[in-house]
Amino acid sequence: MIKNVGVLTSGGDAPGMNAAVRSVVRCGIAQGLNMFAIYDGFNGLIKGSIEPISTRGVCDILQRGGTVLSTARCKEFMTEEGQKKGYDVAKEHGLDAIVVIGGDGSFKGARALANLGLPTVAIPGTIDNDIACSEYTIGFDTALNTAMNAVDKVRDTMTSHSRCCLIEVMGRHAGYLALDVAVATGAEAVLIPEREFDFENDIIEPVKKSKKVGKKNHIIIVAEGVDINVTEMAKIIEKATGVSTRATILGHIQRGGSPSCKDRVMAARMGKKSIELLVEGKSNRVVCFKGGLITDMDINEALAMKKIVSEEELSLAAMLSV
Ligand code: F6P
Repeated sequence: MIKNVGVLTSGGDAPGMNAAVRSVVRCGIAQGLNMFAIYDGFNGLIKGSIEPISTRGVCDILQRGGTVLSTARCKEFMTEEGQKKGYDVAKEHGLDAIVVIGGDGSFKGARALANLGLPTVAIPGTIDNDIACSEYTIGFDTALNTAMNAVDKVRDTMTSHSRCCLIEVMGRHAGYLALDVAVATGAEAVLIPEREFDFENDIIEPVKKSKKVGKKNHIIIVAEGVDINVTEMAKIIEKATGVSTRATILGHIQRGGSPSCKDRVMAARMGKKSIELLVEGKSNRVVCFKGGLITDMDINEALAMKKIVSEEELSLAAMLSV
């Protein structure tokens, strides 16, 4: 019987993680569980940074970006020794189960604890939306809107100067954020790691063509996972097209800020599901969003899946960029 449940956030933070923590804690308490905050991700688990947390302890965090639990990318927890240490510390603190909020690296940590005998449930939280088993990850919508608003602003100044701009967005090895941003901002081209591109045909020619028809700005969205240096590429484009070109790297601004309504609601729903799964006696599960429903899947299966970029969205981005 599960009585004491810990919750931690791990990996890169994402807007909405606080809303998820709040939901996990409050739904857990509503089920009669004792809830514990684990600070600094798996680092904090190993070090025993664990404290009881109450309903009031998660007040006023729903609307805040970042994670009040703090987070880390814990190298030690990637080793068997570190995982065993984390398991032992969890047991010393009387924890019967843990909810892990993070990306696929964090799912591996949750799986390790489950394999050692500590029930775990993972919730997908990353701005990258790169988790194959779930159509949505907490933080994606907020990051998307932050990036879209930033691109709109860059476009204003590009238009004033009749310029081209390469704008690099986050996404680690995936292009989901870049592709949605490109469609939402009417970008001339989008480069993502999942799709090979031809410099001449996909970049130079479109910029030359739109210069000819009098277009006053040329926005090219580049996913950070594409192996190019946007500053260097800007110089090459300028030389080849005669269009003054600049590069902007949006960077960590995309990870901050108050979560959007969608992220708060998804976080609340996923948090509730994590507690239901633990109460049902499940372990090594990941909460997923599929076809409008909150479901769950075995972590091993989830980690073996590969996410595919939508061909329909890719061709739409190309079609609308004329
Ligand atoms: O996974 C989220 C993410 O923001 C990625 O988009 C990016 O590649 C990475 O984290 C950056 O990590 P860090 O904050 O450790 O530099």
